[in-house]
Amino acid sequence: MPVTRFSVLMVNGPNLGYIGRRDPGTYGFRGMDAVQTILEKDRQGLRDRLELSYFQANGEGGIIDRLEKAWRDEVQGLVINPGAYTHTSLAIGDCLAWINIPHVEVHLSNVWSREEIRRKNLTAAHSLGVIAGFGIMSYILGLEALVWHLDNL
Ligand code: DQA
Repeated sequence: MPVTRFSVLMVNGPNLGYIGRRDPGTYGFRGMDAVQTILEKDRQGLRDRLELSYFQANGEGGIIDRLEKAWRDEVQGLVINPGAYTHTSLAIGDCLAWINIPHVEVHLSNVWSREEIRRKNLTAAHSLGVIAGFGIMSYILGLEALVWHLDNL
């Protein structure tokens, strides 16, 4: 029986263009390329369920423009790490609310174990859930959770 493949967009917000280089003590030594490597080497079953695209931007408007495009393209799911906008951006939160694409919010670090301001979240209210603290593995776990959700719609 042919498997259903889901179109999924991964979105990274500001300062997430250099994962693996930026403050590795907090965010880990592995970059986004490791997500692809893990999918190919260890998670072929998951990879075969995905038509994956990737986007990263440092500005709020660029992220919102890309999310609106995902809505026009009828993308089926999102894995999003809004970076610091998680804690400040009502605009990204509003966008995620209205486009209504099933999404998992992910963070490399455990935001609840850090400074108080990182416990504030303006983006996750409409997410399926949040995965935080597993470094690059947060993205893989986010994709797993998303596919599981889409399979069970
Ligand atoms: C982050 C956590 C945010 O607080 C921070 O501003 C980031 C990265 C994470 O992935 O752990 O840029 O989203």
